[in-house]
Amino acid sequence: MSKDKVDIFDTTLRDGEQVPGCKLGTEQKLVIAERLEQLGVDIIEAGFPISSPGDFKSVSEVAKLVKNVTVCGLTRAVKKDIEVAAEALKHAKRPRIHTGIGTSESHIRHKFNSNKETIIERAVAAVKHAKSFVEDVEFFAEDAGRTDNEFLARICEELIKVGVTVLNIPDTTGYCLPEEYGAKIKYLKENVTGIHKATLSVHCHNDLGLATANSIAGASNGARQIECTINGIGERAGNTSLEEVVMVLRQHPTLNLDTNINSKLLYSTSQLVSREMGMIVQPNKAIVGANAFAHSSGIHQDGVIKHRETYEIIDPADVGVDESTIVLTARSGRAALAYRAKLVGYELTKLQLDEVYKEFLKYADLKKEVVDQDIHEIVEASSITLQNM
Ligand code: KIV
Ligand code: ZN
Repeated sequence: MSKDKVDIFDTTLRDGEQVPGCKLGTEQKLVIAERLEQLGVDIIEAGFPISSPGDFKSVSEVAKLVKNVTVCGLTRAVKKDIEVAAEALKHAKRPRIHTGIGTSESHIRHKFNSNKETIIERAVAAVKHAKSFVEDVEFFAEDAGRTDNEFLARICEELIKVGVTVLNIPDTTGYCLPEEYGAKIKYLKENVTGIHKATLSVHCHNDLGLATANSIAGASNGARQIECTINGIGERAGNTSLEEVVMVLRQHPTLNLDTNINSKLLYSTSQLVSREMGMIVQPNKAIVGANAFAHSSGIHQDGVIKHRETYEIIDPADVGVDESTIVLTARSGRAALAYRAKLVGYELTKLQLDEVYKEFLKYADLKKEVVDQDIHEIVEASSITLQNM
C-alpha cells in the first residue's frame, strides 16, 4: 500500500528566525532557502513581509529564487498586511498567503477585546481578501490548542466556504497533550462540513517538550501538513523539529505516512542553519546533535561494535552522518579501546589489550575523553612491546 504524503512546511525563516539573536539578513535567508529546496520541503515560510523592509525584501528575493517550492508570507488578519504580503510574493511561482487570528477565549478576550462572532467575521474577511491576490491561502487559528473544538470547527467551516486551502491548527503555547491534540484534529476531520476541500496543518510549539509527539499525533489523525523548523528553533522552547518528524515517519512504516525530504541532507542542513543563525545545536539533540550517534558507555560500545543496530535505530548514513562514534571515557570497556586502537593502527592481542587497558584507565580517570593522540601515548607508556604486534 502506498504511503500518504505529508507536506513539510518549513518555517525556519519565519518562526525560527523570531528567536532573539537569530535574525537573518536577506543573503543568509537565500542560502538557507536554496538548501531547503534541495532538502525537499514543500513550503517555505520566508518571513512576515509587513514586519520590516528587510523582511519584505527577504520574502521577495526568496520568492524569485526558488522554483519548485511554495513560498509563503505571514500576515495578521489585517488588510494592509495581506496587501504587503501579496506584493512581496508577486514573483513567486507558487505563492501562498498565511493569514490568521487568535481564536482561544484568552486571545479573543484579552488580546482583541472582542467576541467570537467578530473573530469569525475578521477571519472570513482576511481569507477573502487574500484570495483576491493568490489562490493558495492558509489560515492560522492562533492558540487553537486552547480553543474549544466546537468554535474551531465553526470557524474552519466558514473559511472553507470562502476557499481557504490550508487550515493551520497551532498549539501556539505548546500546551496540549498528544492524545488531546490528535483528538482535536480528528474532531475537525469528522465535524467540519467540506473539510476534504482543505488540508489540515499542525503547528506545534515545544514548551512541554511535546512538539514532535503532538505533530505526529496530528498527522496520525488526518493532518497532511506539518509546520516545523530545522533544529526545532523557534519562539521560547522552539517549534517542532523538522528532522525529528521526518525520521519518526521514516522509522515507523506502520504510520503509513511519508514526506519528500531527502534525509541524507538533514545533518548538513542542521549545521548550515546553526552556522548562519549562530545558534548551537544541543549535543543530545535527536537526529542531528553531536552525540546522536556517539556511544560512550562500555556496555553500549560493546553492543554497537558487535552489531550496530543493538543500540542504534537509525543508520547514521541515512541522515548524512558519516558513521557512529565510539567515545573513549572511563566508562569504556576493552572492546571499545581495542576498536579505537585498531583505527589508529594498533592491532592488540588479548594480553596486550589487558596491559594497555590498565594504562588507559589511568588516563581516562584524569580526562573527560581519551582522544587518538592519547591512545598513542597510552600504548607507548604501557609495558608491552609493539614489535610483537
Ligand atoms: O505559533 C503560532 O501560532 C504561529 C502562528 C503565527 C502560525 O506561529
Ligand atoms: Zn508558531
